[in-house]
Amino acid sequence: MSYSRKIMITGGAGFIGSHVVRLFVKKYPDYLIVNTDALTYAGNLENLKDVEHLPNYKFEKADITDEKRIDDLFQQYAFDAVIHLAAESHVDRSIMDPLSFVKTNVLGTAILLNICKNAWKGNYANKLFYHVSTDEVYGTLGETGFFTEETPYDPHSPYSASKAASDHFVMAYFDTYGLPVVMSNCSNNYGSHHFPEKLIPLMINNIKNRKPLPVYGKGENVRDWLYVEDHARAIDVIFHKGKLGESYNVGGFNEWKNIDLVNLLCKIMDQKLGRKEGDSASLIQYVTDRPGHDLRYAIDATKLKNVLGWEPSLQFEEGLNKTVDWYLQNEEWIKHVTSGNYQNYYQEQYQARTN
Ligand code: NAD
Ligand code: DAU
Repeated sequence: MSYSRKIMITGGAGFIGSHVVRLFVKKYPDYLIVNTDALTYAGNLENLKDVEHLPNYKFEKADITDEKRIDDLFQQYAFDAVIHLAAESHVDRSIMDPLSFVKTNVLGTAILLNICKNAWKGNYANKLFYHVSTDEVYGTLGETGFFTEETPYDPHSPYSASKAASDHFVMAYFDTYGLPVVMSNCSNNYGSHHFPEKLIPLMINNIKNRKPLPVYGKGENVRDWLYVEDHARAIDVIFHKGKLGESYNVGGFNEWKNIDLVNLLCKIMDQKLGRKEGDSASLIQYVTDRPGHDLRYAIDATKLKNVLGWEPSLQFEEGLNKTVDWYLQNEEWIKHVTSGNYQNYYQEQYQARTN
């Protein structure tokens, strides 16, 4: 079969990447999608069980910092586009081990950009490097205001600093070499297949198992939550219609204080698990705050709506209900990802916070 597009999707075995791969593989049978992922602790091919048999899907285990391996894949497939999601993605891990974030997020992105530049050799027609980034590059907001595409970068964690550096490399390749790039900066995602080191899946898993619910600081930090399938739809729109050299903010206009969100999850799960109201909330435990903890994120996604016509499709309570149902129905998935190393991570991360 000759494909109309040949796309490398990096990090396709992770949380957001798997939703992007699923959407593209199903929606575009004439695109070849090559999921390129190192399968770190966060990568899981079980996330793609439902689409792995499709003829336009391929998986290649590869580390984006392995220049030769990525170059070989470019020779093999002659990609005309990259959608780059592979990253170390958890802020708390970046505080424990910052250099692995520099390696994957900065060096890995620079290697991909350079390989695209060399492989496409200035023949940039119908080529695209799409970089998936985060709102955390903008730093923190006070009680009011929003991040727009013009907000200056001001990252505070090793994670956000590494993503900011990678964003700068992307734009430098556009300015210097004319590489066709587009970028998006999204707010916090939630939904199925989310690794339970992040707030929502961690709380769902702990509520289910009646374990303490560790809320950092006073629980007053605010995040702007977007359903992961809405993010994948935004990536689809930006990939096809985004203007080269531009970035697009993606968000749900859906701000929640952490403590309010955890209480809502407790309420939803009390109902679903047949517990009496207030039962799960009694598990809440305030623990030592995250160092450099950004107070508030809130995305202004007006550009994406006005220029490209994207809007979030789901109300938060509906999305949370779907998410909780998915975790309750997929016990095997959660069992696999929380065995072994996860237990060591959890102990190291949370023991120190509760002492
Ligand atoms: P994730 O941690 O769930 O998945 C990351 C994936 O990248 C995994 O499959 C992992 O195996 C792979 N990976 C890691 N290092 C690699 C390497 N060196 N080479 C190849 N593959 C490697 O992350 P996620 O939450 O799905 O985030 C995906 C992207 O979206 C990241 O770039 C992240 O910065 C960005 N983002 C995430 C959110 C969010 O709320 N989760 C919001 C905005 C932007
Ligand atoms: O904003 C986009 C970013 O969102 C992405 O770029 C990151 O990859 C993603 O991990 C996420 O970062 P956060 O740090 O906002 O997400 P996290 O789920 O780790 O934490 C959300 C909030 O909940 C944050 O204020 C810290 C708090 N928290 C988190 C955990 C894991 C707790 O109070 N307790 C916890 O146990």
